[in-house]
Amino acid sequence: MKIEDCIADFQIPRYLHYMDSAATSLIPEPVIAAMNEYDRQYRANVGRGMHRLTRVATQKYQDAHDRVSSFIGGNEGTTVFTRNTTEAINMVAAGLDWHSGDRIVTTGAEHHSNLLPWLRLRQEGIEVGIIQPGEAGIFDIEAFEEAITANTKLVAVSHASNVLGTVQSVREIADICKARGAYFLVDGAQSIPHFPVDARRMGCDFLCFSGHKMLGPTGTGILWMRDAVISPLILGGGTVEDVTTEGYTLTGGYKRFEGGTPNISGAIGLAQAVKYLENLGMDAVFRHEQKLTDHLLAGLAGIENVTVHGPENVKNRIGVVSFTIDKIHPHEIAYLLDERAAILVRSGDHCCIPLMRHLGLENGTLRVSLYLYNTLEEVDLLIETIEEIARIA
Ligand SMILES: Cc1ncc(COP(=O)(O)O)c(C=O)c1O
Repeated sequence: MKIEDCIADFQIPRYLHYMDSAATSLIPEPVIAAMNEYDRQYRANVGRGMHRLTRVATQKYQDAHDRVSSFIGGNEGTTVFTRNTTEAINMVAAGLDWHSGDRIVTTGAEHHSNLLPWLRLRQEGIEVGIIQPGEAGIFDIEAFEEAITANTKLVAVSHASNVLGTVQSVREIADICKARGAYFLVDGAQSIPHFPVDARRMGCDFLCFSGHKMLGPTGTGILWMRDAVISPLILGGGTVEDVTTEGYTLTGGYKRFEGGTPNISGAIGLAQAVKYLENLGMDAVFRHEQKLTDHLLAGLAGIENVTVHGPENVKNRIGVVSFTIDKIHPHEIAYLLDERAAILVRSGDHCCIPLMRHLGLENGTLRVSLYLYNTLEEVDLLIETIEEIARIA
């Protein structure tokens, strides 16, 4: 399937121009159909019985794990379904065997979901070192060399910034982590939906991302682990091999980490979303977004009063473009874009208050985030409307 042909699969009213995919993407019809099929035709619990419906549901649920694992080159690791990226990161924060004096290294450009779980560990005597980004959100690799000390147990970095769009060279960070014996967690919430990623080649130990940002349903996320070294956060049905009143033996694989009845239709929908992306090809998805982003950056560069925050060209960036217009609050711009042209974008701090402080952007930014269903015509409409708004500011 060609990217241009997929627009019909997204049944949002045609007069709306959705450019907030970094928050949550739209969902295509085949994903909705796969979830409906489960609810209508073979709804049953998974891994818990012998009747025909539970056998079908269990197989589909297993297939969903296999498909997501292979999508990220993670077949040799453990792929756990979670509610979202936030839950996946918290599972690692709660599940590693921490000792007072251990150190965590993260950055000042992280989404709160990849910062708060680490900051909380300070209460347990864990040191947290923060590396600050340069202007366009780019890090100096030497800063990681310096910050990752012998007592560093974990380094947690986002692959692509949800504010500036910058893509980090995670492979280089992974090499440093490996040399110093630190675990490496990559927050892939903004990378997995947008370009091909191979977890093993990237060299991380944990990869966390969200299904709802990659055409899947809300309430779906993934924690991939190279080795399942964490203790499970939740125990109960489905997580054990054997139980007596004295104790229990945990089961292996993803089941150890998915206590209780999971989001079965969500998992089936997520697998269908992955299949959809695979059919399009992640290289093609990335090329399409680059074309749109290039066009947008060129358009914004020509408007007086507009400042783009983040890389000014498409090298090493995704289709997340943050900018401000002098003398007008980002919330007001977002409101005007909706009112005047039905363009839907996000404004504010984007759950990155420390980054906003670091960049001196107290009101935050306006963030446009493009995906495979956006078109050049929509980007033109955005540029024209921004020109109008900047003129009246
Ligand atoms: C980089 C990054 N990390 C983590 C998250 C949290 O994702 P979720 O809300 O799906 O847990 C987001 C969401 O926008 C994000 O952009």
